[in-house]
Amino acid sequence: MRKLEIFLAFLLVAVMIFAAGCSAKIETHDVSEYKKTLEYKDGFKVMMITDIHISRLTNLEELTIYLTHNINEEKPDLIVLNGDNFFDATKSSVDYLFKLIDSFETSWVYLQGNHDHQGLFEPGYPDETASRMKYSLNVDYPNDGIDGTQNFYVDLMDGNDLVYRLFMIDGGSYTRLNAVKYTYQQIGDSQLSHIEKVQSQETDDSYTSLAFFHIPLQEYADAYAGYVEGKYAGKGENREENYPSAFNSNQFNRLKNAGIRGIFCGHDHINDSIVDYEGVIVGYGVKGTREIYHDEDMMGYLLITLTGEEFSIDNCQSVFVDYDSVVEGK
Ligand SMILES: [Fe+2]
Repeated sequence: MRKLEIFLAFLLVAVMIFAAGCSAKIETHDVSEYKKTLEYKDGFKVMMITDIHISRLTNLEELTIYLTHNINEEKPDLIVLNGDNFFDATKSSVDYLFKLIDSFETSWVYLQGNHDHQGLFEPGYPDETASRMKYSLNVDYPNDGIDGTQNFYVDLMDGNDLVYRLFMIDGGSYTRLNAVKYTYQQIGDSQLSHIEKVQSQETDDSYTSLAFFHIPLQEYADAYAGYVEGKYAGKGENREENYPSAFNSNQFNRLKNAGIRGIFCGHDHINDSIVDYEGVIVGYGVKGTREIYHDEDMMGYLLITLTGEEFSIDNCQSVFVDYDSVVEGK
């Protein structure tokens, strides 16, 4: 009996220490600390490159030529690397891509997809590396109580006027579906609450909000079906079914009610539809490289051009430059 009392007392103290340790770790930050700002200009170009999928087997020279060609061709004002940048990669692959993107001296952000952390490095390595780069806008507070590692936003300012707000969201990776199966994760409740809080603190509502994350929402299937039926305006083509987050916790409606007018994802490599769905543009970005499964005629980048309150969205198909001739021409 005495042994049991000692054991229980020890257990209680241990639980209290653990609980105190856990609660002490959460450090909340004002929503303004998640804000980055860039100067807005008419014709501001956001270039979203998704599913680069660098692995240990990637021909980095070929990939560099292709990405360099596309970025130099477009000269964007902001580059969004929207997830699955890496899959079975190493620290040096992460360093390589981020140094390459930084070399264009253009603001950029790194968002993680379901595969990014499946590499030969600790899970936080891409985030930590991105946030140290000169032109990256990434900011993360590891113990802020908000799910995911990317929960920041980029305000495009015309003087003192906010014209566009771009939410950069960690769309999750995998979560348990049942006792034996895993499935795609969804944006967490804490992340949605954070976005709602950010938006509620803005008194001027004349700006336009867009959101970027990797794994599409379940509504993407509905949107595409409606577009094919002629119910919704749109463009592009889905060549595979969509593989969204398995749990629909009302993410679409919460983002819509928070004033998001456009949602841009990757993940499904051979889908490039963009549909005007229930007041929100839901778009796929075309795959960014020829790594892993892809269609050669469905590859390039998504370009969003911002003008006043309007924005145009195009998936730009970019034929893979003739690697041999480029190398020979050196
Ligand atoms: Fe992917």
